[in-house]
Amino acid sequence: MTLGEPRVGVVLGSGLGAVADAVEDPIVVGYDDLPGFPRPSVSGHAGRAVLGSIGGVRVAVLQGRAHLYEGGDSDAIRAPVRALRSAGASILILTNAAGSLRPAVGPGSLMAITDHINLSGVNLLMGPNDPSVGPRFPSLRDAYDPALVELLRQSSREVGVSLSEGVYLAVSGPSFETPAEIRAFRTLGADAVGMSTVHETIVARHCGLRVAAVSVITNLAEGMTDEPLSHSQTLRAAEAGAGDLTRLLLAFLPRLSDADR
Ligand code: HPA
Repeated sequence: MTLGEPRVGVVLGSGLGAVADAVEDPIVVGYDDLPGFPRPSVSGHAGRAVLGSIGGVRVAVLQGRAHLYEGGDSDAIRAPVRALRSAGASILILTNAAGSLRPAVGPGSLMAITDHINLSGVNLLMGPNDPSVGPRFPSLRDAYDPALVELLRQSSREVGVSLSEGVYLAVSGPSFETPAEIRAFRTLGADAVGMSTVHETIVARHCGLRVAAVSVITNLAEGMTDEPLSHSQTLRAAEAGAGDLTRLLLAFLPRLSDADR
């Protein structure tokens, strides 16, 4: 099977699968049928692609992604991004569940990622470079496309969903952070912390995809509340935020028909 001819790829994070319900005339393809795609092992990740259109824009919505903490199969992170590019997509929208480092940006809220700090310890472009895919040393300036961030802003105003903006810091996981790490990350300039997204962004920029990314804040980061963190809390809060994310993306995607020229 292939991904058809999408113009936009959308990767859904933990607990955010509801966005796929918005795809019109959907064709569902299991990752089993897509070469190189991951076999998700984390609950909240379905492992299927939903192909169709949203607001008149052809999309491939990927429900489920691989994470480094699942065992280091970094091909399973690269393959879907490059498959979208090969299928003709020009824009990649990444979503994730993340912890907030800002007390005022609480669970259930959305944050547009404007830049990232990769503290996962890995860069998925390490190893031999195929120059037909992208350059050896790609720039990550404006990795999160400023024009797409502006369209996210406009879309959030249109649908009345509040959208903060900030820097996403990636760790490898799977343990959550210590309170001391969170204090350090705040000093470094991070607004949110999570275990995904930066790798897909790097691979996407390398092969020429424009990137927009939105975090659904599922919790205040470790040490900021009395409650220790858990994955079940992440999934509950992600499902609560998925409604707003869907509304935001339903307003955002139609705007891409002009932005993409
Ligand atoms: N830390 C790391 N990853 C996360 C968090 C967090 O607090 N919340 C959701 N994903």
